[in-house]
Amino acid sequence: MTIQTVNPVSSLTGRINVPGDKSISHRTLMLAALANGNSEISGLSTGQDVQQTQFIISALGAKVENDNGICLIEGGKFETPNQVLDVGNSGTGIRLFAGLLSGIPIRAVIDGDSSIQSRPMDRVIFPLRQMGADIRSRDDNGYAPLEITGKELVGIEYEMPVPSAQVKSAILFAGLSAQTPTTVLETQPTRTHTEELMAMYGVDLKTNQNEITVAPGRPEPFKHKVEGDPSQAAFWAVAGTIVQNSHIEIENLYLGPTRTGFIAVLQRMGADLQINHETGELVVRSSQLQATNVEPHEVPSMIDEIPILAVAAACAEGTTVFEGLSELRVKETNRLETIQSELTHMGIAVEIEQDSLIIHGGSIAGGNVNSHGDHRIAMACAIAALVSESSTSIEGWEAVSTSYPGFKNDLECLSGEGV
Ligand code: S3P
Repeated sequence: MTIQTVNPVSSLTGRINVPGDKSISHRTLMLAALANGNSEISGLSTGQDVQQTQFIISALGAKVENDNGICLIEGGKFETPNQVLDVGNSGTGIRLFAGLLSGIPIRAVIDGDSSIQSRPMDRVIFPLRQMGADIRSRDDNGYAPLEITGKELVGIEYEMPVPSAQVKSAILFAGLSAQTPTTVLETQPTRTHTEELMAMYGVDLKTNQNEITVAPGRPEPFKHKVEGDPSQAAFWAVAGTIVQNSHIEIENLYLGPTRTGFIAVLQRMGADLQINHETGELVVRSSQLQATNVEPHEVPSMIDEIPILAVAAACAEGTTVFEGLSELRVKETNRLETIQSELTHMGIAVEIEQDSLIIHGGSIAGGNVNSHGDHRIAMACAIAALVSESSTSIEGWEAVSTSYPGFKNDLECLSGEGV
């Protein structure tokens, strides 16, 4: 395990690009594998999760070449892989592939790391079985590895019991191989990348308020430029706000409304964030934050940003409450617990009450923390360390490479100092 020490800094200034959006990267690779012909994707996430998706589509029969930042994929053919498909740490990878593979006439086993093996897969297994899928989980207990034997599927109408873009997307990917149309009904909106990309690239898909219907078919080959990941920009949005004398510009971001809830929350806490929807630019300047209440209906639009918003709350005046966080218990770690334990180690007062997180603003001491293998916990602690009274050492730093291998480098560029 790698230990990274992060010291307080006096300011953060500069212009950066964050990695390509992780959610969009996975989906474009999967759609390119399904499309019959040559697709081109640029700006893919450089994180390990997306690397694993590239390996998997190539193990399934797609030809994948990377040339100067452009990923060229010849798709349309699937073969039974001669190895276990390893998603690494990626929940999006395993759940979306489970849907994609359910209706393709091959047999495959999908697995991942120990975090993946402890995350619930029943949420995709149940609806996919209703469509006719043959999916078996480890000891039939709803956990990976999953063994999938492609079958003829029928479309279903499925009302989502939890707000999850991964579940919605798994069903829509399976729907492409079904005999009849498939409809997903959402009770709370979640990220819309699957439906947007499918409709853009030739799939017959219609959205009517909270209902998404996909007809069987395949995407056309396409060219796509993946924009920057707002979930990674969130670390700099908070860092540039809480570190004094800072001015950070982040270029070329995806800024769709299902992903930018964190910007609205930070702005209502008093953050100086300017967004330009045409260029995808986010400009951050330091400011003093005030506490806020985040309500359950807001959570899906900032589901991955709660760890870093917790750091913002720790620097705010007053007590911030995040409500409705039950889904955080089934992320890369149980994030309700890891946010509480690691921020407490840094001297921040954090309480959990049922599914709420309560953070008392104050000063941050710094200390010894552990990522528990969770990339976003490692990066959130690193940002908190920038305004701590003493240095912080972060064990399990290697987890950062899941989504943002260049994080430390970007931090050094912005601070003008070695970290
Ligand atoms: C993702 C959806 C979210 C998010 C994850 C990526 C996606 O998970 O937490 O990091 O790409 O669909 P849920 O949909 O399960 O909430």
